[in-house]
Amino acid sequence: MATAESTNPTAMSAAVARRAAAPGIQVAAPSRREFLYYIWGASMALLLGQTSAGLIWFAFPRFKEGEFGGTFAFNPEELPGVGAAPTSVPAGRFHVTRTSEGLRALYGVCTHLGCLPKWVPTNGRFECPCHGSKFQLSGDWIEGPAPRNLDLFIATVTYADGSTAETPADGGAIPLDPDQEITSIQIDTGARITGALH
Ligand code: FES
Repeated sequence: MATAESTNPTAMSAAVARRAAAPGIQVAAPSRREFLYYIWGASMALLLGQTSAGLIWFAFPRFKEGEFGGTFAFNPEELPGVGAAPTSVPAGRFHVTRTSEGLRALYGVCTHLGCLPKWVPTNGRFECPCHGSKFQLSGDWIEGPAPRNLDLFIATVTYADGSTAETPADGGAIPLDPDQEITSIQIDTGARITGALH
């Protein structure tokens, strides 16, 4: 049967104190072996906690949609015409461009030292304000100290019939099907393809 001492921690502590104070009764201190068991148990609990926290961290996406590092929904109606000025998305740090080869999502950071090249309509190219590197609408290097083409983000185009097309793994454009209506364009700013060296 449960007593008040066995169910109430305060009563238990008081009882232990009374016994310790009673003549002839000794309360044994934890042995060295018990102490080591406690340390081992605490270490295992800590390790388990850290492992669980790590799994949770990797199980959930670290970036929200529409946040740099995550995926952006690009409005198909904002897709530029072939050869037209790119549509820039500053929050995602990319430019969507369209050439006769198709669509690219160019990372808007110079491959030299990280400045931000701007599209210069009068010259029809990206020009870096820092050291003068220049890039075509396709992101290909033209001149200047940048060692390679502009980097690309992986884009995914979805058509009305449910089919999709994605940026090739080795870079390049997504050829667009002129007979299909594009229903969505997703740009993954967490998936970057390094521009080719020139
Ligand atoms: S950072 Fe662009 S040319 Fe140097």
